[in-house]
Amino acid sequence: MKKRGRSTPKVVRVGVVGVGGRGTFLMKTLLSIPGVEVRAVADASKDNAARAQGIVREKQGSDPAAYVGGASQYEKMCAREDLDAVVCGGPWEIHVPVMVAAMKHGKYGATEVPAATTVEECWDLVNTSEKTGMPCMMLENVCYFQNVLTVLRMVREACFGELIHFEAGYQHDVRMTKISKEGAIKWRGAHSLNKNGNLYPTHQIGPIAQWANINRGDRFDYLTSMSSNARGINDYAAKLLGKRHPLAKKKFALGDVNCALIKSVKGLTVTLYHDTNLPRPYDLIFRCQGVKGLYMGTVDGVYLDGVSPEHHKYEPFAPYMKKYAHPLWKGLQKEAARNGGHGGGDYITLWEFVRAVRNKTEVPIDVYDAATWSVITPLTIESVKKGSAPVKFPDFTRGKWKTRKPLPISKP
Ligand SMILES: NC(=O)c1ccc[n+]([C@@H]2O[C@H](COP(=O)([O-])OP(=O)(O)OC[C@H]3O[C@@H](n4cnc5c(N)ncnc54)[C@H](O)[C@@H]3O)[C@@H](O)[C@H]2O)c1
Repeated sequence: MKKRGRSTPKVVRVGVVGVGGRGTFLMKTLLSIPGVEVRAVADASKDNAARAQGIVREKQGSDPAAYVGGASQYEKMCAREDLDAVVCGGPWEIHVPVMVAAMKHGKYGATEVPAATTVEECWDLVNTSEKTGMPCMMLENVCYFQNVLTVLRMVREACFGELIHFEAGYQHDVRMTKISKEGAIKWRGAHSLNKNGNLYPTHQIGPIAQWANINRGDRFDYLTSMSSNARGINDYAAKLLGKRHPLAKKKFALGDVNCALIKSVKGLTVTLYHDTNLPRPYDLIFRCQGVKGLYMGTVDGVYLDGVSPEHHKYEPFAPYMKKYAHPLWKGLQKEAARNGGHGGGDYITLWEFVRAVRNKTEVPIDVYDAATWSVITPLTIESVKKGSAPVKFPDFTRGKWKTRKPLPISKP
């Protein structure tokens, strides 16, 4: 174990479940945060667990325990006495079972996104956290992107005036994560086989929910959703594997572009896209619009009535990034740039989690947020099935949204 000097922060002992692509990355980022020790790793694959052990050994000078196999193994890991927190970087279907096991064993939980994929799973997270008193954070890293945090400060300083409308999209060509070069359907592709809706909603809705104080003074009321035809994966398979390959013809349920409209109880509106099957540049959109102007992420521009010099024209956002720099970015920028992916957003996300574990405080993206943002998947699926009928959001806070206060701007 690392030696603790007088100024070394209190050690936070972590176990990581699911050390594939993303889980390994989370683990490496955790190891770069002062005071974090990875005591255990768990994975269904022996090779992945062994690789993770090697990375920890190299960085930390000691071997973490390895748990190889499925549910019974991560359950055992969660039961260890010497862990403060369990982080899950595995596939969607294990997020809730791992978080529930962690909380039941008195550990802080942190999970990759989406936290849950069904309404029941969302309630499982909320009920378990309430029952055990253990916090669980969804690691929605886009909430910690520099532009997103800058807009949060601008919202709080009323630059846009009363907020009116938002738009965002998970518009990311991830066809290669759906089928392999060998013609196999990967786990992410399997979700596209029989589900038609917004399958990955939290990157888009997280920042919007924070700008709009959702679950803290307002809440999402209902949504309606529509999906396009599904052609993208077949077209990709034909190019990759040949026109005669079965995947070039296999029916995938997921429409290539899904669009949802959300209304909040207080009248805010949101347009949300899910667009993962077509060749396209990465673009999360991020429009945040109020009565005085708007931020528009696609063009990285801002327009403020009476402030922007040219009528009808966006100004570059860069000067606003300086003027409204978020304290987390100002304080952690160097470490974040050195150690984290997504421009440093991953480091800041995990840093916030580790601080909550160390200080035994609430997490900044809690189970109410995780459930409200993740539930968009089953609700959009239901709306699409019902010819775009409106579908109500469950109130996961059970009325507490009326009295919960907006979180203060976080400082390092
Ligand atoms: N926030 C982000 O920017 C971001 C980026 C990429 C992926 N993700 C999320 O990360 C997660 C993992 O994605 P990935 O692309 O790294 O997947 P992956 O397939 O590379 O890794 C998944 C790992 O989980 C292991 N696993 C599977 N079932 C298990 C079980 N029952 N018990 C223990 N381990 C098990 C696999 O063996 C593998 O090592 C997903 O939830 C994905 O949505 C988030």
